[in-house]
Amino acid sequence: MRRQERVSVLGVEAVRPYSLLRVERAGLDPGVPGQFFMLEAPGRLLPRPMSLCLAPPRELAFLVDPVGPGTRALCALERGDRIAVFGPLGNGFQLDVERPLLVGGGIGLAPLPYLSEALGGPPALLGFRSSGHAEAAALLPQAEVVVDPVVVTDVLPADGWDLLACGPEPMLEALVRLQPTAQVAWEAPMACGFGACYGCAVEIGGEWRRLCVDGPVLTCLGARPWDQASLDEEQAA
Ligand code: FES
Repeated sequence: MRRQERVSVLGVEAVRPYSLLRVERAGLDPGVPGQFFMLEAPGRLLPRPMSLCLAPPRELAFLVDPVGPGTRALCALERGDRIAVFGPLGNGFQLDVERPLLVGGGIGLAPLPYLSEALGGPPALLGFRSSGHAEAAALLPQAEVVVDPVVVTDVLPADGWDLLACGPEPMLEALVRLQPTAQVAWEAPMACGFGACYGCAVEIGGEWRRLCVDGPVLTCLGARPWDQASLDEEQAA
């Protein structure tokens, strides 16, 4: 059940080139892997959406990529600082899968350690744009890792896997082309996190949908945030 708490920061650890922000869990429910929380970014008007990366006892941990003022402010937090955390929000991954294979690209690694724990450590495949970024794969020790110019779809095993993925849009689109039943965690800028602002709206099958309430995890049988007609044409070609 979602709620808002002001919680203490327990630490910010380098997971190169990202940072793992650890906060006390307080009364917050960690939720289902793939769900997200809105984190107050000090000095910024809007909170930042972060999927839960790890849920150790009495803690919540978020993997943050310091790419802008808000995420840099989160990475600059120090032990004992207090921030508002709101969640869990959105739809997580469906865990009733028979043969899970986790697939992540870049910072899309973020929800996979918690998901891996929930599924008992299934195989995983991670892609990064550089060997420096690939150091973050330490969070998912069983993963096979590829680095650009090799991409995850180059080494994806033959069919028969239930794909659960998070990463950049081209990677997710390619995975769904290969397996239309893949569960994909889609990213979008979010302002409210609970359906009120339409800041996260994307076009899905001709309709505008709010990723914070319809996603971020989409099961692609009935909901794809790209043009279904063009996919069908490609597959028929
Ligand atoms: Fe406000 Fe989704 S973030 S509607």
